[in-house]
Order: sequence, then structure tokens, then C-alpha cells
Amino acid sequence: MSLNHLFANRTSRMTASEIRELLKLLDQPDIISFAGGIPDPAYFPREAFSEAMTTALSEQAAGVALQYSTSEGYTPLRDWIAAHMATLGVPCTRDNILITAGSQQALDYLGKLFLDRNDTALVGWPTYLGALGAFNAYEPRYDRLDPADNRAPDQIAADAAKAGGDVKFAYLSPDFANPTGITLTEAERRTILDRAEALECAVIEDAAYQSLRYTGEAIPAILALEVAQKGDIDACRTIYLGSFSKTLAPGLRVGWVVAAKPVIAQLVLTKQAADLQTATINQIAVAQVAASVFDSHVETLREVYGTRMRAMLDALAAHMPEGVTWSKPEGGMFVWVTLPEDMDGKALLEKALAAKVAFVPGGAFYADGSNANTLRLNFSMSSAAKIVEGITRLSAVIAKEMA
Ligand SMILES: Cc1ncc(COP(=O)(O)O)c(C=O)c1O
Repeated sequence: MSLNHLFANRTSRMTASEIRELLKLLDQPDIISFAGGIPDPAYFPREAFSEAMTTALSEQAAGVALQYSTSEGYTPLRDWIAAHMATLGVPCTRDNILITAGSQQALDYLGKLFLDRNDTALVGWPTYLGALGAFNAYEPRYDRLDPADNRAPDQIAADAAKAGGDVKFAYLSPDFANPTGITLTEAERRTILDRAEALECAVIEDAAYQSLRYTGEAIPAILALEVAQKGDIDACRTIYLGSFSKTLAPGLRVGWVVAAKPVIAQLVLTKQAADLQTATINQIAVAQVAASVFDSHVETLREVYGTRMRAMLDALAAHMPEGVTWSKPEGGMFVWVTLPEDMDGKALLEKALAAKVAFVPGGAFYADGSNANTLRLNFSMSSAAKIVEGITRLSAVIAKEMA
């Protein structure tokens, strides 16, 4: 018996993530994989979490840690986040903050909050695949978000109206984006804000990698620029998504949203209907670990991942054949490679796997599946020595294909 014919129309756009399917193939130990996009488990703050969980489960504390709690999130954690946001130039209170089960949940909630069928979401070309996955369930149309795009906002709005909806938000990850590793300049961030102002739409600032800068100067968050302009977070259209996944541990599923209070209030209702709250004990543990080791731990990650990033960039410069180009990230976890136009990342992957090296073909990150001649390389999961070996192998595969 199949129930498939009963599934709602929206499921037709929920397709398996190419990356997850691919990761299943990569368990063989002799493959050097640049395909993942995850933190190195060797650097999880295991001892700090062990201590925090033990304290949370002590006789005096367990009644709270194992109990239901508020949908908004654990107050000491929201207070820590408010203080953290202040260091980023975003003065706010705990009432501007909602704790979510990772920023992925926030992306789903924002899709639910804003998108009617055929509304337009402006996204990068390419963009984070998980955002497309989250938004797809709400059946939007996608249009390009590019600071260098000089289409008039009127034209963008007219195209959205023709498709049967409105422009509801611009989604972007301005620091060390997944998949490109690229960071937007302050001027580009201001351009995005101006355009959102003209279109009267929201801005979703996905800051998943913001703390992981290894070189260069920090650039103000889009929300920080807007708060400085408007003088009050409650007057802002930018919705900021933070996450402890890349800095502390993704398995605990703790992230946060910072926004104007009316947006938070509506998201709280969304969360109440969806899952009531984020796991109490996980929030308590993250609050304790963040308060005790966040800064020193992020410093360690910057050193470790920074070394790996430099190893990858140096190896690419030393070994890639002419005609191949790549992004020069200053942080995050990814380098984005562009092959000559007639090459196909997916076809290349088969050859690369035979040479025991893996990556993610880039076409998956485009809302229209275009730009098949691109690849995403992750550098957070391999030692510098493995990275050099893997890039040497990959360069040889590409050089052979180009010959
Ligand atoms: C850009 C971006 N946003 C959001 C997420 C989701 O992260 P989490 O739900 O673990 O916070 C990821 C994870 O890879 C990501 O790369």
C-alpha cells in the first residue's frame, strides 16, 4: 500500500539533500573528504559539557533541567546572548531573543511566518542548501540577491507580483557563507539593507559562521548597521540567526533568533505550535559552557581551522591547473572552486572518488541547479597534512580532465 498520493502538494519540493546522500558514501577511511560541512569532533568542549550536564542533573537541579520550560528559552542563556550581541554592536534585551533548535529550525519558522505560496524569497546564487530546503516547503519563488545587481527594486517587485506574490525577505549569510566562503563588505551590506528598505521586505541574516574569523578585520553585522541607523532594534527589519553549532556542539541543537519584539512574539507562537520549546537541559548546559569557555574555545577553533584554511589555500595555489579559480575566505569552513565552464562537478566527483578524494558538486547550491562547473571544499574536518594530500589528488584529477 502506498500513501504517496495523499501527501500534500508541498512535499513535491522536499527532495533528498544531495549532500546527505553523498555523505553516506564517504565512510571509507582511505577517502580524504572535503565533502562534509561539520565541525571537527576532536574540538568539542567535551569536559565542559560533561561537567555542565552533571551539574544540571544533580539532585537539586534535575527537577528544572528535565522539566518543560518556556517557549522563549532559558533566561540565563538569553541573557548571555544579549551580552554577546552587545559585543557585536547590537544592543538588545532578552525579549528580543528566541532560542531555537539550531538555526535550521529558525529558517523553517521564518518560511512559515512569511511565505505564502508563490511569494518571492531573495537568495544568493548560490546559497545555503538547507535554507532552500526549509523554504521549499512553503512553495516560494526564488529571485537573485546580489549586491552588484542593479535591477531597480520596482522591477524586482513587479516580477514578484507577476509570479503571484510579494517579495517577503532577502536571505543571506554575510560572513564566510556556506557554500562560497565569501564575506560581504560593509558597503555591500548597506546596499542589501537599502534594497530591503525600498522593497519593504525583511532581511534574514544567517550568522552561523560569524565567530569563525581567522584573518582580516570583522565587519559589522547587518543587524548592527541597521540598529545604528534606526537607533532601536524594535524598529529594525533585519532578523539575525545565531547558532552554537559551529562554535560549541551541533548535536545539542541550540541556536537563537534576534529581532524586533513583534517578530519574536510571532515566532514564539510558531514555536509553541511546532515543538513547545527547545530541550531544557541542552539550553542549561549551553548557557553554562558558553559562560565559562566560549571565548577561549572560539580562540582555539580559530587557530586550528585557520591553519587548515591556509593549508588548503596554499595547496590550491601550488597544485591547481591554470583555468581553475577559487574563493579566498577569511574564515568559516569552505572554499568555493570554479572549474572551466564545460566541466561538470558531478561527473568530476565520480573520478575524484576513484582517486580517493571527495567534495560536494556546486550545482546543488543554486535554486535553479545552474553552474554545474563549481565545487565546495570543506577544510574543518581534515588535518593540514591530509588537506595538502587531498588537494594534490584533486588537482591531478582536474588536470587530467582538462588535458
Ligand atoms: C549557513 C548555515 N545556516 C544554518 C545552518 C544550520 O545550522 P544549525 O541548525 O546547526 O544551527 C548551517 C549548517 O550547516 C549553515 O551552514
